[in-house]
Amino acid sequence: MSSLANKHILLGVTGGIAAYKSADLIRRLQDLGAEVRVVMTAAAQEFITPLTLQALSGNPVHTTLLDPEAEAAMGHIQLARWADLVLVAPASADFMARLAQGKGDDLLTTVCLATAATLALAPAMNQGMWRNVSTQENLRLLQERNVRIFGPADGSQACGDIGPGRMLEPVQIAIAAASLFQPGSLAGRRVVITAGPTREAIDPVRYISNYSSGKMGYALAQAAVEAGAQTILISGPTHLPIPERATRIDVTSAQQMYDASLQQAAACDLFIGAAAVADYRPVTIAANKLKKTTNDSMTIELVKNPDIIAAVAALQPKPFTVGFAAESENLLAYARTKLQHKNLDLIIANNIATEGIGFDSDDNAVTLIDHNGEQALTQRSKQQLARDLISLLADRLPAQQ
Ligand code: PMT
Repeated sequence: MSSLANKHILLGVTGGIAAYKSADLIRRLQDLGAEVRVVMTAAAQEFITPLTLQALSGNPVHTTLLDPEAEAAMGHIQLARWADLVLVAPASADFMARLAQGKGDDLLTTVCLATAATLALAPAMNQGMWRNVSTQENLRLLQERNVRIFGPADGSQACGDIGPGRMLEPVQIAIAAASLFQPGSLAGRRVVITAGPTREAIDPVRYISNYSSGKMGYALAQAAVEAGAQTILISGPTHLPIPERATRIDVTSAQQMYDASLQQAAACDLFIGAAAVADYRPVTIAANKLKKTTNDSMTIELVKNPDIIAAVAALQPKPFTVGFAAESENLLAYARTKLQHKNLDLIIANNIATEGIGFDSDDNAVTLIDHNGEQALTQRSKQQLARDLISLLADRLPAQQ
């Protein structure tokens, strides 16, 4: 199935009667999973209002290059970087000419010059203009530069002529846009990942926690997004930015992570527990800051936290459930025990006693253990490891219903 899951499409709309079809095109692109932002030329605004396209895209419509307010919100270079695909539909004869000449005389041509994304045009114009030797010469130039051309269709035109120049139907353009991308290994899948540490409060100023930075879980979330998954990241306190296109749910304690995970896990295909969850929490949280006493020691009574991943693995039906095992000795034996006791589909063992990997490091090295055997992945960056893990996990997921 065609998919634009997690793709950013910058839709350029130029002046022509087919501009009214851009409204439907936004919907068709969204139906395939894309996020759409719109840039309109001055002529396009004579045919359809920015407000209509803003309401449909859910994002402000960009119209001018020299508007300080719009530039402050998302400048033209940021727009050019944001896009995975710049799709101009309808593309008028004038726009094709300006693009072929390399002009940057309005916002849309400037973004087209600046972007590294694929450029695609759906031409729409009178058949005489389409057949004109200048337009055909511009078309040839653009195709030589690897600009993708969708259509035009042949048929009766708004002006009464019959011939080539009609814009393709929005659904055809959306499918053609999707065909430019490889479907990701997790396209159509929903993935929930826990990351980072939990904090278990002792009093208003103190807590029990651990050294997890969240880097491993966040890298997995980014890799899942890149593989096309709808990705939910349930995160303990970290200093990391939200991975692009993932939804982050912030939690602090193990109990909060448990509640959020159980709420999200029921409807997901893959659950990965990369968080370092505190096994115990103080029985009581003091209402006021605990004061130093004359005693040389103090005791804090702890109670067990619920096991999040074991509860997820006990759901009926359950997602494919993957845990991590952070061990400083007997790595594989302890990991195998956790695989069994928590009823997981797979566990990823990492040795947190080895310098340069595990907690708060940029690299990791792991061994995947499932009920059939083991597979070691040598030390590499957490980003690269996450991509490798996501690809291996995608292969193991049961087929989609
Ligand atoms: O965050 P980083 O700095 O990048 O470090 C990454 C990491 C070392 C934290 C990560 O790779 C890792 O190993 N995460 C799991 C750490 C851990 O808590 O392991 P564990 O062996 O204690 O727990 C086993 C599994 O049960 C884990 O999937 C854990 O998320 C889960 N668990 C544990 C306790 C609990 N109450 N609920 C759980 O779900």
